[in-house]
Amino acid sequence: MRVVEAFRAAYGSSPQTVWHAPGRVNLIGEHTDYNDGFVFPFAVPWGVTAAVTPRTDTTVRLLSLQSSGEPVTIASHDESKGWTRYVVGVLAMLGDRAGGADIAIDGDVPQGAGLSSSAALEVAVASALNDLHGLGMTPMEIALLSQKAENDFVGMPCGIMDQAASALCQEGHALFLDCRSLGSRNIPLDLAPHGLSMLIIDTQVHHEHAGGEYAKRRAECESAARKLGVAALRDVTDLAGALDRLQGAERRRTEHIVTENHRVEALVGLLRAGAVTEIGALLNASHLSLRDKYEVSSPELDVAVEAALRGGARGARMTGGGFGGSAIALVPVDRLESVQESVSAAYADRGFQAPRFLPASLAPGAHRVA
Ligand code: GLA
Repeated sequence: MRVVEAFRAAYGSSPQTVWHAPGRVNLIGEHTDYNDGFVFPFAVPWGVTAAVTPRTDTTVRLLSLQSSGEPVTIASHDESKGWTRYVVGVLAMLGDRAGGADIAIDGDVPQGAGLSSSAALEVAVASALNDLHGLGMTPMEIALLSQKAENDFVGMPCGIMDQAASALCQEGHALFLDCRSLGSRNIPLDLAPHGLSMLIIDTQVHHEHAGGEYAKRRAECESAARKLGVAALRDVTDLAGALDRLQGAERRRTEHIVTENHRVEALVGLLRAGAVTEIGALLNASHLSLRDKYEVSSPELDVAVEAALRGGARGARMTGGGFGGSAIALVPVDRLESVQESVSAAYADRGFQAPRFLPASLAPGAHRVA
């Protein structure tokens, strides 16, 4: 394994453990996680592999096969910058339970595609350290610790979806997660017998303001919940009544969150009933709601979704935080080519940078590889 060889070359010994954790695609349930709602992501076949050996001091030595040169040595948590923050954040959250470590990282999550490479990195390192130090953390505890590293250390106020998907997903399944109770269930999603496949359309665009807009959406939801006298927008039961009491952005955000939670439950219900071919309409409705009510789409995402549908997709939507990143499309296998042609042509027409197409399969969550 490449990462083990790099570890040996850099540190002069073999790693004590090697863990892999995947990125994710969210099938439906967008921006619902920090509203105590429902999400339904699955793990992708790309992720981060972390080779780790603990140290007796508190020094962290880090090497990434994706950045050239010598290992970076970090003696104090404050020195950490760039991608190293995700790793040092996890170590900081573990505190005395972990000490220092020698770490080598190899990742293949397409960068900038919005497939949660940062969650993969956090969960791979946290899982390896949990294993090495015999900490006995459950996959959900690993996800929560990784989320806290990202919230408190990196400063991104994300919800629990990405880390939970990376830690808990199972091959061939998507993860139905209640972000309040943290109860979850892996639901089988087998597209091939229905002649269907899932295509990721990476716009290769990411808008700079995304981080600030994410925090703003979160604040709007929290403000709306306060005005409605509920703990979170998850608790709104009378949507029409709630909308009457809100205005402007808070009204639109509330409408998205409440309807999106229902769409997650409806989609899971269709899968349980074996009606896979019927889920497309819910994907389309989710996209329109994210575009018009939550206002987190982008021209590139909208064009990808519209062109995919014109090319024969059964449903399509943006996935992840928005403002760029990727869209997903549910595509009959015999229409894969025409969908890609349709999206490529629409992008060329608009003068957009060519999109990248990635066939999605439902991969396993974090696991030990050596
Ligand atoms: C980002 C965050 C997640 C979630 C999605 C939107 O990926 O990290 O917690 O909020 O956006 O659904």
